[in-house]
Amino acid sequence: MPSYAITTFGCQMNVHDSERMHEVLRGAGYAEADAGVADVIVLNTCSVREKAEQKLRSEVGRLAKQKRNQRDLVVVVAGCVAQQEGERLVKQLQGIDLVLGPDNIPELPRLLEELALGAPPTVRTVFDTETPKFLTALSVAGASKTAFVTIMKGCDERCSFCIVPYTRGPERYRPSGEIVAEIAALVAVGVREITLLGQTVNSYTDPTKALPPAPDATPGDPDESEFAALLRAIADRVPELMRLRYTSPHPRHLTRSLIRAHAEVAVLARHVHMPVQSGSDRLLKRMIRRYSRAEYVERTSALVAAVPGLTLSTDIIVGFPGETEEDFDATLSLVREVGFKGLFGFKYSERPFTPARKLQDDVTEAVKSERLARLFELSESLLGAHLTSLIGSTQRVLVEGLDKERGELWSGRTDRHEIVHISGAAGLDLAGDVVDADITRSNKHSLQGELTASARGSARPRTAPEKSARRSLPLVAIAEGA
Ligand code: SAH
Ligand code: F3S
Repeated sequence: MPSYAITTFGCQMNVHDSERMHEVLRGAGYAEADAGVADVIVLNTCSVREKAEQKLRSEVGRLAKQKRNQRDLVVVVAGCVAQQEGERLVKQLQGIDLVLGPDNIPELPRLLEELALGAPPTVRTVFDTETPKFLTALSVAGASKTAFVTIMKGCDERCSFCIVPYTRGPERYRPSGEIVAEIAALVAVGVREITLLGQTVNSYTDPTKALPPAPDATPGDPDESEFAALLRAIADRVPELMRLRYTSPHPRHLTRSLIRAHAEVAVLARHVHMPVQSGSDRLLKRMIRRYSRAEYVERTSALVAAVPGLTLSTDIIVGFPGETEEDFDATLSLVREVGFKGLFGFKYSERPFTPARKLQDDVTEAVKSERLARLFELSESLLGAHLTSLIGSTQRVLVEGLDKERGELWSGRTDRHEIVHISGAAGLDLAGDVVDADITRSNKHSLQGELTASARGSARPRTAPEKSARRSLPLVAIAEGA
């Protein structure tokens, strides 16, 4: 049986695509193996920042050397760099056998077969704009308590710094019936939490026009979408679902209908990741973000007012072309004003094909690093204060699995996305349960809690050793270097 290994770089969309590649390959009779011995190595790449792209280039270099001793090794480059570079990759870098775009994942086994029969290096990077296909997660019982479901792909925004519209193509939406059916199938085999995925996930409109309008929807408003209607349909038709999240929304589509859905749909998590990028209106314009600082604050405040306790996290770029100390101060003041409980911060990185290339990348590397450090210092202090304020409270936790690093501790997340490590559960099986924990301590990025006596009383005893179901997702939004 041929074997394969997949290495994933980048965002949740890539994590999801890699999971689908696993399925496609297993379905075709391949077995997963360590990267050191596998017959086929897939690198699922990211090109959103230059550093991510460099990682790929050095990895391919290493594999080209490995190929000298392992002549049959097949190297596949998938994901955004594949889509972006296509033919050029094969020409520039030695050792690549297949370049595969994100929309061509189902063709992977066939293309590998052709290579095995002697086909030359192949490039397959075709968008399925005519008849878009969405990769569906196989519903495998016991696989995981949390799952992603893609509801749209591509992006029609033209944020001036971003390569995604180029690497992922135009927006294409999935029929609402298919989305609901996939979620129902996942929940039926034990999945408790679903994260809806899309590049601008809240611009969703149903291509089959099967959704009734959501309350407070304003037809004709270019920012309005059918996302709120979709959330309501999921909640209505899959009542057993325990928690519903989505990522990443665009602030432009944080409309009244979506805010109202958050207030009324109980299954929605009380945490939203809402990328803002900058707190300076001048820069937001240059970034072509299509909202002002005041609009961002107004919409997110309305959301928090509608759902008391809801937490927000965000993405911020520092050192965008022309960013002055004053612009950056505006960003810091916005972070304070909104009180983000998590933040991904990135140094601006000039990307091919993006409109911002016309602007001069004029903020020095040293200034970018210094601003990023100040931003992280602020966001860590906001998160730290928030986590500390929860000591002494009781939190409801959806348990994802045993924590690998912390031995016997179970870990999961609250509906606001705080990570909680739970003690006092020796000999118990909490996987997939929603349990109460008394919070005893806060760590830098997580909480520590003790299972409450009543939760202990109703928990299942552990029979078999639990395989950790935790994913290594950086979803809890904490500071992340670029
Ligand atoms: N809508 C997408 C955004 C993809 S890019 C999503 O679903 O997440 C993720 C984040 O990377 C952006 O929000 C932005 O903060 C950052 N980013 C994108 N392009 C960048 C660039 N050229 N330089 C630095 N950071 C960038
Ligand atoms: Fe990128 Fe802006 Fe779309 S950040 S993915 S172009 S919303």
